[in-house]
Amino acid sequence: MANPFHIRGDRYECDRRALSNMRVDREEDLAVIHSAIAQRGHNVLLYGTRGVGKSFLLGLLEMELAQSSATIYPCRVNLASLRSYAHADNASAFSRAVLLQFCKTLWTDVLGKSYLDLRDRLNESRHEIHLRGKDETTIERVYGHLMLLDQAARNAEWTTAGFSVGVRGEKKEEISREAHHSQVLPFEFAEFSQELIENVLAAHGMNRLVVLCDEANLIPIFDQEEILSQCLEVFSSKRVQFVFVAGLAPWDDKVYLPSCFETRRELKGFQKKQYVEQLVRNVLDASDEPCLDFDPQCLDVVFESYHGHPRQTLDACCIAYDYSAEAGANMVTPQSIMRACREIDEYHISYTEAMRRERDGYRDADRQSQ
Ligand SMILES: Nc1ncnc2c1ncn2[C@@H]1O[C@H](COP(=O)(O)OP(=O)(O)O)[C@@H](O)[C@H]1O
Ligand SMILES: [Mg+2]
Repeated sequence: MANPFHIRGDRYECDRRALSNMRVDREEDLAVIHSAIAQRGHNVLLYGTRGVGKSFLLGLLEMELAQSSATIYPCRVNLASLRSYAHADNASAFSRAVLLQFCKTLWTDVLGKSYLDLRDRLNESRHEIHLRGKDETTIERVYGHLMLLDQAARNAEWTTAGFSVGVRGEKKEEISREAHHSQVLPFEFAEFSQELIENVLAAHGMNRLVVLCDEANLIPIFDQEEILSQCLEVFSSKRVQFVFVAGLAPWDDKVYLPSCFETRRELKGFQKKQYVEQLVRNVLDASDEPCLDFDPQCLDVVFESYHGHPRQTLDACCIAYDYSAEAGANMVTPQSIMRACREIDEYHISYTEAMRRERDGYRDADRQSQ
């Protein structure tokens, strides 16, 4: 009998029907964020501990924005691999990641073309580009600039490395200035996004871009703060709105929340036990095979332990399910749930300790560089 809790998680992000089927609660969070974006034109900072349901909520928001607001275009950007977007710094990588993703989804979702086609067109001459419609050429041109900027930065970096042995000071400086200039500057972010909105979105009946920045919580907290503080101009650009998902570590007694986010929302665990029951029930119901049910006391234990935190609840259920199945029980027992909770708590303590060490390492490095 397969454990139904083993398959779950981020796959819902891509699958709208699964997202709706598995969904529990979040009416209020969704209503607050949706109206902040659609009615009040706000930027939103969404934060909360790992696994509390931020990505899931972002998926629901993306779906709702696309369905309910004909003029808004939601574009989801995954920031987990931000460093691969620009070598210079996080702020530059952030602007580039957002614009590249915007180009890509406009090309594939709005124009219905293949991404490979867009890549191929980087090699075309200006003459060929002139033969096409304004929406296509705008995407091609912005995308082309972003890709060329990256190439210039990589070349400059390579040259700097090549010259590094015995190079004269001014030569090095000249080259690194070149690398610096190949970033996306804040005013360029505004210009590029404006062009894309006017020439592509508007041509398809939309006029507002909402960038849903997920997984920033997976990058170190110091890097998140660097983006938030250095991209103020980007966040304040007129026709682009942002929902920024920030992570919160357990030691964050004071969180830096910049003023360009007019709405800040902390996501917490489900407030009522009935939602936890629903969360577990949805997983069991989605299983294709017959599976063990849960003794009702299990849910009391797990709700008391994790206060409706979805990932911790699902993890505890998953581990306890295995224990009960291995023991040949005909239900998942409260004893196995308690054992699972103990295991998760132990893991949590060592994880928090590791993160604290990482944070202290960053602080020390920061102090030494000043
Ligand atoms: N409202 C919800 N309804 C059903 N399942 C949820 C809900 N919120 C979160 N989950 C589940 O909880 C787990 C953690 O959620 P996730 O969105 O990945 O957390 P975060 O992004 O905050 O780290 C995922 O497996 C997700 O499917
Ligand atoms: Mg997430």
